[in-house]
Amino acid sequence: MGVAQSSVEEIRHERTGIVFRPGLDGVPATQSSICDIDGQQGRLSYRGYPLEELAAESTFLETAYLLIWGELPTTDQLKAFEHEVQMHRRVSFRVRDMMKCFPATGHPMDALQSSAASLGLFYSRRAIDDPKYIYAAVVRLIAKIPTMVAAFQLIRKGQDPIQPRDDLAYSANFLYMLTEREPDPFAARIFDRCLMLHAEHSLNASTFSARVTASTLTDPYAVVASAVGTLAGPLHGGANEDVLAMLEEISSPDQAAAYLDDAIANKRKVMGFGHREYRVKDPRAVILQALVEEMFERFGHDELYDVARALEAAAETRLGPKGIYPNVDFYSGLVYRKLGIPRDLFTPVFAISRVAGWLAHWREQLGANRIFRPSQIYTGSTQRSWIPLESRLPTAGA
Ligand code: COA
Repeated sequence: MGVAQSSVEEIRHERTGIVFRPGLDGVPATQSSICDIDGQQGRLSYRGYPLEELAAESTFLETAYLLIWGELPTTDQLKAFEHEVQMHRRVSFRVRDMMKCFPATGHPMDALQSSAASLGLFYSRRAIDDPKYIYAAVVRLIAKIPTMVAAFQLIRKGQDPIQPRDDLAYSANFLYMLTEREPDPFAARIFDRCLMLHAEHSLNASTFSARVTASTLTDPYAVVASAVGTLAGPLHGGANEDVLAMLEEISSPDQAAAYLDDAIANKRKVMGFGHREYRVKDPRAVILQALVEEMFERFGHDELYDVARALEAAAETRLGPKGIYPNVDFYSGLVYRKLGIPRDLFTPVFAISRVAGWLAHWREQLGANRIFRPSQIYTGSTQRSWIPLESRLPTAGA
């Protein structure tokens, strides 16, 4: 239909000359001052601050503030933000009751998407040019998403959700609400650092979803709900769950190379490897691997780590020449497993963190908004004549 495949990466429309790049690979869709990725050198910074420094020095809430408002907070600003978030951790009994009606067998990401969207019913005013509304929406979403993730975990076990504890900081409180035990401070700090590592990553699929949704000027709860739905897929946030399943399937370091050869021969993606932006190991995977080792030193080894390392070593020669290396999802699951987080909560935990990035992009989008409305290259039929019902052939594949 007038479409010529000029290379693997791009398709040129013969009539108009328009070039289509599948997956918008390499196509800038916005300008942004939030996060910078150097995919050749493996560097990542939030608002100009290297991720390594933030992960060592900052906290998740401080990093969220930096992402959303563009500058590190002063002592007073940070205190006020932490206090506001703490005050808004509770969710309405109506939301909890709604969650009790969800099937216990449903995926926690679906539960989170529905409950995040439901917040729009309670705080529906779309005063998106009012800084007070924006601040309140940011606080509510950052405060309530962990509570909703933990609530569904208890509800699906047939228990009542437990209330947040005001004496616990953000990450420690989430682990407490999830496991019903006050976490070891060292474990809570590791978890907080994991949240910082996942908080933002430029125009990934879920953030793009968030910006597209934001560009219609809908409310921020719809923005976050659309992003949660996008994050759930196995090519995006959902990969962290699949990595652990894969490591369990491989089960022994000796089997790693054979697994990899089989996956490559059968054109199966190896979960936790590859990234559109990086041609080297994802800098977040480098930091996460160090966190895994810190966790194991303190709380005991996990033999799946040996499998992961064997897989990474085998991939060096098999996938490395194509620029395919471990991404953020490769080592995160091993940390979460040690923290006692169930596997199907790995992606909701990713969402708890990434909401900071989504909200930063929501604000940035509103600051210079133009609704997203890209074009397309039409490849369908032209000029067909109406076919009476009795003359039609069955539709193939329907
Ligand atoms: N395992 C094996 N091969 C991979 C691979 C992986 N994880 N990721 C990419 N490749 C190969 C593809 O098979 C393709 O090879 P080909 O050119 O011979 O056909 C080439 O690399 C390009 O892959 P493509 O899927 O087009 O890259 P992309 O930029 O569209 O996709 C990802 C990026 C992240 C979706 C992709 O690497 C992937 O599916 N990874 C596994 C899922 C994952 O870990 N996702 C989390 C991302 S943070």
